Order: sequence, then structure tokens, then C-alpha cells
Amino acid sequence: MSVICQGNRLMGSFEQAAPEELLQAFREFQRLSDSLSQSYAQLQRQVGALTEELARSRESHRAETSARLRLAQRLRQLLDALPAGVVVVDGRGEVSECNPAAVTLLGEPLKGEQWVQVVQRVVSAGETSDCDLLLPGGRVVNVTTQALGEEPGQIVLLQDVTETRRLQQQLERHRRLAAMGEMASSLAHQVRTPLSAAVLQLSNLQSVAGDADKVGRYAEKAKQRLHHLERLIDEMLLFAGGGKVVDPELVPLDELLARIPEALAREEAFRVVLENRSPGLELRANREALASALLNLALNACQACNGSGSLSITVERKEPDRVAVSFRDDGPGIDAAHTERIFEPFFTTRAGGTGLGLAVVQAVVTAHGGEVRCHSVPGEGASFIVELPLSEERGR
Ligand SMILES: Nc1ncnc2c1ncn2[C@@H]1O[C@H](COP(=O)(O)OP(=O)(O)OP(=O)(O)O)[C@@H](O)[C@H]1O
Ligand SMILES: [Mg+2]
Repeated sequence: MSVICQGNRLMGSFEQAAPEELLQAFREFQRLSDSLSQSYAQLQRQVGALTEELARSRESHRAETSARLRLAQRLRQLLDALPAGVVVVDGRGEVSECNPAAVTLLGEPLKGEQWVQVVQRVVSAGETSDCDLLLPGGRVVNVTTQALGEEPGQIVLLQDVTETRRLQQQLERHRRLAAMGEMASSLAHQVRTPLSAAVLQLSNLQSVAGDADKVGRYAEKAKQRLHHLERLIDEMLLFAGGGKVVDPELVPLDELLARIPEALAREEAFRVVLENRSPGLELRANREALASALLNLALNACQACNGSGSLSITVERKEPDRVAVSFRDDGPGIDAAHTERIFEPFFTTRAGGTGLGLAVVQAVVTAHGGEVRCHSVPGEGASFIVELPLSEERGR
């Protein structure tokens, strides 16, 4: 504007100005006018570029927003169609969101309710396990929770596992029946051998009635076979009653372990090294059942070593209230193909073995709330680790 005014002033004094000055003034005017036009054009280009950029950014923003909306819609549809119940509990413990499956499982009111109260309302029928809830209608629901990441609150996932649990129970029943059938036929086989041997020895006894020496020998053999039968039946009974501990009492672990070297004292070429890193621990147990289970592991080691080798027994307390007793021998170890089967009743690789030893060990240890594991590298011996809970009364 000022240039134009200046130009007007120049025009006003046109008549008085000398031609040279006039020309110069026009040139100046022209230069300023050109520069102005250039600036204007540049400004226009910039405005154009900015407008385009704005349009592009608006477009991408719109696309992003609609993609987000579509995603949210799809998630909503997915949640609505999900057969599992989903409940979102906010930082104040209130149900902020839930899908139709959750409403079907837990009933109304749900949204806006305190989650603790909803749980109290539905678990009135009882809790079947740590994560399974038995709902009033008889349905069993598995509950898992997950934190909401950075936000306070949690997502609760509810799965109707009524049918799964029913099938699992059915499968378990079938398994037990199959195992019982298998066991019955193995037992019949196991019992028949010592029984026919005893019958044979007794009929021999009749035929040598006058010979006191032979009578004594045959009677002794018959007695041995009958003892074997007795042991077999005792072990079967222990295995069959594996679900509970009979007559539990406070038992010092040291006392149970001290019996092992005593019992194997006759095996002169077999060395038992007892390393008790936590003496004085006590267990709540059936003394005889647990003592015989631990002795069984030592006997197996001795038998695997053919009576010549060594067994190291280590006791180590596991915090806070468990103890691990490990039996490590330097025998031949266990074939990889057999490790899966050694705890099965009647599985044996030993001539004269019944295959009940480890099955009984496992049943007894499990009944005491513990577990038994085996590690073995063939050719490098075997390790059996028994983990047991300590008594809550003492030994802590
Ligand atoms: N320490 C060990 N080293 C190598 N193999 C072992 C050891 N302990 C157990 N086994 C294997 O596991 C099998 C099953 O053991 P388990 O004690 O159940 O029965 P068993 O010793 O054969 O007979 P029994 O009923 O008389 O004890 C054994 O036959 C043997 O093959
Ligand atoms: Mg055995």
C-alpha cells in the first residue's frame, strides 16, 4: 500500500520531475511491484501447500478414526458372540463392562455392581476348586483374571466348563475301571505263581512224610512262598488304600531314615551314605507305611546294583515347610523307554519282582501330601526324590 501511495506521490509530481528521475522512480516502482507479486505468489503457493497438507491430515485422521471405530465395533461383536463371559472390573472394584455370556452365567444385575458382591451372590452354591465355581443352576464356571495393564482394574474371563468337567470325570472313571481290570488280571497272575509253588511244596511234603529233613525243607519253601503271597497282598492293600493316611502321628524323619542302613546291613558290598543336612524334622505320617516306602527306594537301589555299589541319601529342607529326601545310586540307571512306566503297578524288569514297589511308594507319598520324582541317565545311576510336607506342629 505504501508503495502504491509512494507511486501516487511519484505520479503527482510527474510533471515537475526530470525525465531521468522519473525513469528511476518508475524502475523502483516496477521492482517493488515485482517483488510484491513474487511474495504474493509464494504466499499463495504456501497457502495452497498448507491447505493440501491440512486436507491430507484431515483425511488420514478420518480414516484412522473410522478404522478405530470399525475395530471397536468388531471387538464388541466378538465379545457379544463369545461363548465365554467377559467382565471388566474398574479400579474401584465395580463392573464397568460385561458381555451377554457373562450376564447369562452370572445373572442380573451385573453392570455397575461391586464385583465382590456379584461373586458372593453366585458362589452361594459352593466352590468346587480353586478356580471353578459351582453356580446356583448347577453349572460349573472356570474363572481366570488378568490385570488391565497400565490402568487399575482387571478383566475376568468366565468359561462354562460343566460339560468338560463331566467328561473329565467320566474319563477318569473309565481309566480307573480299565486300570482295575488290568490290575485284577495281573494280580491273578502274580498270586497264581507263589500259590502253585506253595501247593507243590505241600504235596511234596505229603510224599516225604517219614523224612524229617525233607519235610523241614519243603515246609520252609512252602512258608517262603506263602510269605511272598502275604507281602503281595499287603502291598496291594496299601496301593488300593492310597488315597488316605491311616493313623497319622508325629514321626521324626531321622528315625525313618535310620532304619535304612540297618535293614541293608546284611548287604556287605552295598554302601549306604546318609547325609542329613536338616536333622530334627518331623512329619505327620503313618510311621510304618512311610518307613516302608522309603526303604523300598533303598531296596530298589540295592537290587539295581546287584548288591554291590552305593546309595547316597540326602535330606534337604525346602522352604518354608517341605523336605526333600533324595536317593541316588550308582547302578545301571533306568532305560529311557522304562522311565514312563516304573510307577505303574506290576511293571517290573526284575526276575522275581512284583512291580508293586514303586506304585506303593507313589501311593503312600501322595497320600502324605508329597510327591516322588525320578531322574536317570542310563549307565549313570538313578535318583529318586521324595518331597514331603513337614508337620505343622513341630519341626519348623
Ligand atoms: N534304583 C533303580 N535303578 C534302576 N532301575 C530301577 C530302580 N528302581 C526301580 N527301577 C526299575 O523300576 C522297576 C519297578 O520297580 P518296583 O520297585 O516298582 O518293582 P520291582 O522292584 O521290580 O518289584 P517289587 O515289587 O518287588 O519292588 C524295576 O523293576 C526296575 O526296572
Ligand atoms: Mg522294588
